[in-house]
Amino acid sequence: MNPTRTSAWTRLAEHATSHPPAALRELFAQDPQRACHFRQEACGILLDYSKNRISDTTLHLLFDLADACDLRSHTRAMFEGDAINSTEHRAVLHTALRTQGDVPVLVDGHDVLPAIREVRARTYAFAERVRSGDWKGFSGERITDVVNIGIGGSDLGPLMVCEALKPYADGPRMDFVSNVDSLHLVQTLKDLDPARTLFIVASKTFTTVETLTNARSARAWLVAAGGETAVARHFVAVSTNAAKVNDFGIDTANMFGFWDWVGGRYSLWSSIGLSIVLAIGPAGFDELLAGAAAMDQHFRTAPLAENLPVILALLGIWNVNFLGSASQVIAPYNQTLHRLPAFLQQLDMESNGKRVRADGEAVDYATGPVIWGEPGTNGQHAFFQLLHQGTAVIPVDFILALRQPGQIEAHRTSQIANCLAQSAALMQGKTAEEVRAEMQAKGIAAEEIEALIPHRTFPGNRPSNTLLLDELSPRSLGALLALYEHKVFVQGSIWGLNSFDQWGVELGKQLATGIEQRLAGASEPAYDASTEALLAYTRSK
Ligand code: F6P
Repeated sequence: MNPTRTSAWTRLAEHATSHPPAALRELFAQDPQRACHFRQEACGILLDYSKNRISDTTLHLLFDLADACDLRSHTRAMFEGDAINSTEHRAVLHTALRTQGDVPVLVDGHDVLPAIREVRARTYAFAERVRSGDWKGFSGERITDVVNIGIGGSDLGPLMVCEALKPYADGPRMDFVSNVDSLHLVQTLKDLDPARTLFIVASKTFTTVETLTNARSARAWLVAAGGETAVARHFVAVSTNAAKVNDFGIDTANMFGFWDWVGGRYSLWSSIGLSIVLAIGPAGFDELLAGAAAMDQHFRTAPLAENLPVILALLGIWNVNFLGSASQVIAPYNQTLHRLPAFLQQLDMESNGKRVRADGEAVDYATGPVIWGEPGTNGQHAFFQLLHQGTAVIPVDFILALRQPGQIEAHRTSQIANCLAQSAALMQGKTAEEVRAEMQAKGIAAEEIEALIPHRTFPGNRPSNTLLLDELSPRSLGALLALYEHKVFVQGSIWGLNSFDQWGVELGKQLATGIEQRLAGASEPAYDASTEALLAYTRSK
């Protein structure tokens, strides 16, 4: 359905133009309780959304919009295994992978939980053998290094989680190779010993060119050292496609499966998380799942006004569709979360970067924004200039886990101070009068002051959310990731999208196949003049 046809949308549009909320500074001055009023807490995460340009009326209208777009029934349909990925006729059940109880989850009348538990038990048993040293390489040595070869969802999720939970890692060292540029693999292998290295070839489809190219070269590297028989001790696959795994030359006894109802960007909870299990152990992975399950439960049951994913999603809709923001920054203040922006980029942009609704109609409203970001402290010394004084208003999610094993207290206070300072600066800005008074107090000449005031003034009134985690543990990370998954789901539901397909990645793949044939000497297919000219140039080098 078209959300702009609902009366809630019309009222929101009218509210945004005829009763625009006052500047954030004034809103805080008018209501000293604003920070307590616009905050919610669940699953070890505090969401402070008081620095958004909203009032109670805005929120009520946004909740009306969620109701008008049938959010509750969409949510039920997802959790209950309906084929909501309509263009691929698939259920969307990453939530089943982390479900804690025994209530059956049915797909086509079959409970999927027994199969999930069977594969997970095999994954855990294998990981324990590797971690304990019982699983030996071709020369009888234990495995000390693991290389996950995958791309997109078969790379970003496990990589991001392994980085985030490094303080908990007590297994083999982990590397991730995704880029088809051979230097990624070559530089990774340079310091590794084939006799002690295990490769995980992670690919849902097992047809992804980048992954198979890297896997073939990795196999050749291993075989050069240990011979063909070494492959069985050093290569395992994670995939839904047993036939292709077999074709590639990996024994399906060394394959850990999952199912087509797990989207690639939602797959870290499945056996795609094998690298995570190897790094932090089964107990840590169980905690990750439990944190996500707690957020699932919160999302399913909490009233809209207390529901973290719903609130986060609706604020995004307000910013995108009614205040005109086209992008969203993710700024984590914990270094180990440094790949979170990249992970959320795929999660959000591959899900909601769509211009056609699930019903096939073209949208006439904005959908998913550009997601980008970096660890906050580093961003402050790079692109935050634009956030504070640029012409575009770009909402920011500040994310900070307050405790982490191994922290140095003196750094921690600076980390917290920086995070809080940035959202305060974006919100309050700095007026010309404040700049003038500050410069006068420093004894700067009046002429110099007046010349610099325009440059040193901050407009402020720039929205942000602050998400505080009590600690960065497997459990709280699980909850945080599920929070963002459901945020994306809520936004997709309101925009009427199918958030679970990704047809937009196909054309480039198709063209690359033909171009590779041309580079190999074929005369067909022919391309446009620009591509032909570039092809000719690359061939001349
Ligand atoms: O090209 C996009 C994509 O299909 C993603 O959706 C997916 O996560 C990634 O490629 C990797 O796919 P696979 O796991 O099948 O190799």
